[in-house]
Amino acid sequence: MASLYQQIEFELKRFKAKKNSITSLFIGGGTPSTVEPQLYAKVFTLLEPYFKEGIEITTEANPNSASAIWLKGMFALGCTRVSFGVQSFNNTKLKFLGREHNSIQAINAIRSAKKIGFEHISLDLMYATKVDNKEMIEQDIQTAFSLPVDHISAYALTIEENTLFEAHPDAAKEKLELSNFFINSIKDRGFHQYEISNFGTYQCQHNIGYWKLNDYIGAGSGAVGMLKNKRFYPTTDIDNYIKNPLDIRIENLSDEDLKTEKVLLGLRSKVGLNLDILTESELKQVSFLENDKKVIRKENYIFNSDYLLSDEIALFILS
Ligand SMILES: C[S@@+](CC[C@H](N)C(=O)[O-])C[C@H]1O[C@@H](n2cnc3c(N)ncnc32)[C@H](O)[C@@H]1O
Repeated sequence: MASLYQQIEFELKRFKAKKNSITSLFIGGGTPSTVEPQLYAKVFTLLEPYFKEGIEITTEANPNSASAIWLKGMFALGCTRVSFGVQSFNNTKLKFLGREHNSIQAINAIRSAKKIGFEHISLDLMYATKVDNKEMIEQDIQTAFSLPVDHISAYALTIEENTLFEAHPDAAKEKLELSNFFINSIKDRGFHQYEISNFGTYQCQHNIGYWKLNDYIGAGSGAVGMLKNKRFYPTTDIDNYIKNPLDIRIENLSDEDLKTEKVLLGLRSKVGLNLDILTESELKQVSFLENDKKVIRKENYIFNSDYLLSDEIALFILS
């Protein structure tokens, strides 16, 4: 924590942070629920003067380590939102995903967070895995909506190399069908989709800030920060980070880099894409998409109507 504190002190200076200017804080990682809440206290004391009134403070948590005592401690620190890495309420699927918790632990952790007073509760669900079928997906979503949650992040399993999943490649067509079934089942129950993976009656302000390419401090080993056209990468080597938390690699982003990110992130979310940043030929591509009803124009912005196609649409515009 001392290294984290040192880096945050440094970043507040680098960002010329003003009092009451931080609009959201996200404690993620790793697994925040394995860290005693009081260990965060010094960092919170350092940051509090910079907190804007009504700040959104999210902590991620794993159901098997998010005890009621831990949740009470994070709530007392000022956390307004908790995001549980549930993945599924089906124990066979949890085993397949190599998760340590079971469905009862997940349900109890969510109910406990509500009882303790968390206003905003989110859960992560994974889909399009080898063990998935429509019945299992339907069951997972039914259970999720029987709980006091106002947000779901839904991730289609991506197969990283050298992971156990690599032994279970799945068919793209089936994956797309299951993805649409999953997404429509959540939307049909009244959660608005505001990004390719995010749904809710509540929208995570922290993530929207990322998608708008707002400035953000990234503190901790493996975190990422952004200030205008610079991106900062603290060392991913935890031992090195503890010894030297200011070992931070800087990436200078060109106007082209920033534009590509604005196109990709804008079409993946409710943020949309400002047409002012596009060239004549790219604007021509946009009019094709408009005629095809793939995008909708509102004043000087276009918005994507099917997030699952967002990367294809972005590449078409930039091609
Ligand atoms: C992306 S973060 C969650 C961010 C949080 N939901 C939020 O709104 O900011 C971690 C989540 O990624 C998902 N995840 C982990 N490994 C994955 C994989 N191989 N493929 C797809 N999603 C994965 C899991 O659902 C995990 O809880």
